[in-house]
Amino acid sequence: MTVTALVSAKSSGVTTTALALALASSQPSLLAECDPAGGTIRAGLLQGRVDASYGLYHLAAAERAGDDALAHTFASHLIPLDGAGNRRVLPGLTDPAQAAGLSRTWPALSQVMRVLSDEGGYDVTIDAGRIALESGALHPVLTPAPLLHGADLVLLVVRGTSQSLSLARYVIDPLKAELEERGSGADALGLLLIEEGPARAHEIAETLRLPVLAALPFDPETAGYLTHGGQPPRNSKRNPLLPRARTASDNFRAAASRRRLQRQYPQPPAPAYPQLSGVLQRLSQGAAPRG
Ligand SMILES: Nc1ncnc2c1ncn2[C@@H]1O[C@H](COP(=O)(O)OP(=O)(O)O)[C@@H](O)[C@H]1O
Ligand SMILES: [Mg+2]
Repeated sequence: MTVTALVSAKSSGVTTTALALALASSQPSLLAECDPAGGTIRAGLLQGRVDASYGLYHLAAAERAGDDALAHTFASHLIPLDGAGNRRVLPGLTDPAQAAGLSRTWPALSQVMRVLSDEGGYDVTIDAGRIALESGALHPVLTPAPLLHGADLVLLVVRGTSQSLSLARYVIDPLKAELEERGSGADALGLLLIEEGPARAHEIAETLRLPVLAALPFDPETAGYLTHGGQPPRNSKRNPLLPRARTASDNFRAAASRRRLQRQYPQPPAPAYPQLSGVLQRLSQGAAPRG
């Protein structure tokens, strides 16, 4: 399966898109809300049903306790998004000040996600939030860079508006450099367009010199549900976001496997900790709490 990380230059729809992909995927899916600026899913789609005793922050302490603890804590902090538990979310930070404590957790967490994708058969979507830069490179605390290094695809979410595009151009080169040096290559980076504004996908690809790997519709009703919770809209003609997200996630899977074949980039090493198989077991037993 695929590990896809979503980022933005400035709030563009990363969390909404990550939720759409996780909910619409044709495969079992996991969404990790890893935005260092803090999570919004807990108060939004989950409408406060999950308190601060669950979520990303607890993985920092678990990682310090050892790999086994991290693997098990990860599994037990996933909240089901559907009745069958085939779609789950790890809720994000409740306080942006917690981000500093996660810097040393990202590499191990990246590995957990890799295993869940490659061995567990999950499509993993990472909400990596807004890219923060420092001296032209990714900020070490405010961007979860190790998660981007380990992803098959890193998608910069943009809208087709001049505001969105004019900011996006400044994060592309630092992202490419980072992925070239420390990830699986600069070509892991692509654009995910939210179709708001006048610019068309081919124009954007040309201007930003990056492929548009998916275009998702501007669909305020579905986005409103994903952002605030409540009742999902059911008219797929008027509300095309989830059906289109399903196609997008199928395309990402195909793009990631094409990339692997073309570049022959080494398959990620076998799990560094055999305990990770425990995560998979726990997930298949549905050990996580109901949201
Ligand atoms: N495809 C979409 N169509 C319409 N509105 C959207 C779409 N995606 C996101 N939005 C809206 O844009 C706003 C910001 O989205 P959000 O996902 O919170 O952005 P980010 O995580 O990048 O800060 C929210 O009000 C959300 O409902
Ligand atoms: Mg967000």
